[in-house]
Amino acid sequence: AFKPLVFSGVQPTGNLHLGNYLGAIKKFVALQDTNDCIYCVVDLHSLTAQLVHQDLGEQTRSITAAFLASGIDPKKHIVFNQARVMQHAELAWIFNCVARIGWMNRMTQFKDKAGKDRENASLGLLAYPSLMAADILVYRATHVPVGEDQKQHLELTRDIAQKFNNDFSARIAELGVGVEMKVGEETVNGFFPITEPVIGGPAARIMSLRDGSKKMSKSDPSDLSRINLTDDADTISKKIKKAKTDPDALPGEVEGLEGRPEAENLVGIYAGLADMSKEAVLSEFGGQQFSVFKPALADLAVEKMAPVAGEMRRLMADPAYIDSVLRDGGNRARVIAEGTMKKVREIIGL
Ligand code: ADP
Ligand code: NA
Repeated sequence: AFKPLVFSGVQPTGNLHLGNYLGAIKKFVALQDTNDCIYCVVDLHSLTAQLVHQDLGEQTRSITAAFLASGIDPKKHIVFNQARVMQHAELAWIFNCVARIGWMNRMTQFKDKAGKDRENASLGLLAYPSLMAADILVYRATHVPVGEDQKQHLELTRDIAQKFNNDFSARIAELGVGVEMKVGEETVNGFFPITEPVIGGPAARIMSLRDGSKKMSKSDPSDLSRINLTDDADTISKKIKKAKTDPDALPGEVEGLEGRPEAENLVGIYAGLADMSKEAVLSEFGGQQFSVFKPALADLAVEKMAPVAGEMRRLMADPAYIDSVLRDGGNRARVIAEGTMKKVREIIGL
């Protein structure tokens, strides 16, 4: 079987927010105690939104600072930015030739981001999941912690791995580069692992603080909709106190949150920050009004998030240090990625 290896990435576009932190980065931190981990700032992905000159270096440092400030250890694990390791782009090209256009057309994120004028979306936006599959599989990573919104892309990563393994099964066997693994009931010999998503917990999908039907997002025009990782204590408190809610008290049980998306979201945020279940939060606060719960949540959010913001600011004042982390991480990542690509080229016949 493949040795467990964790990979995940975050784009260097816009401000990181509490959804990114609870849905992804906090999991990255938790997984590093028991796994080898590779965490990447995926700068090539951020070109799909808008290809214009921008200071991606600064944005990349800011995401890296967030990783480090949250507790990721760049000595024990690998932290780097994607553009330093061109093997990602090389494997993505091969995956563009493995994946089918129909698979990409079905991606809901593509449909959302492309909007009505799909013919005018960049080809990169359509092929985004293929690059994401390459990010993961160039390390033959087995586990990928992400928020719920990435679930469909991870399924595509599995489809690409499976098709590559099938299409080249004879050649993989001939070269002896396959690894035996369980896929469902079957034992197969594949070159790429069928990656497991690590999604779940009370904070897998954090919603906007202004609209319980939209996910908290970097691109939401309303700053009140999200808590940015760089917000200071007063701003965090203010945003939580202004969060949209309904007039009822909190229910005693999780079932009571049904049909109350704003209440459910705030309970989920509390649970994520405190490492509790939603049930445990409701057994503490059930029956209470938001006038009681919101100040408690604001205090907790400040207690957990303000130190991260402070440490990020401290790190951002030393860009040379951050660059040295990325350079070192990139060098270590490239060795692994090139090891994979040598075999991939042999499998294909390049
Ligand atoms: P965004 O989705 O904000 O543009 P990314 O695509 O770089 O940012 O996502 C970084 C990570 O944060 C991904 O694992 C993604 O699933 C997670 N994530 C993003 N938004 C949320 C959210 N609202 N709730 C939970 N996780 C989220
Ligand atoms: Na996302």
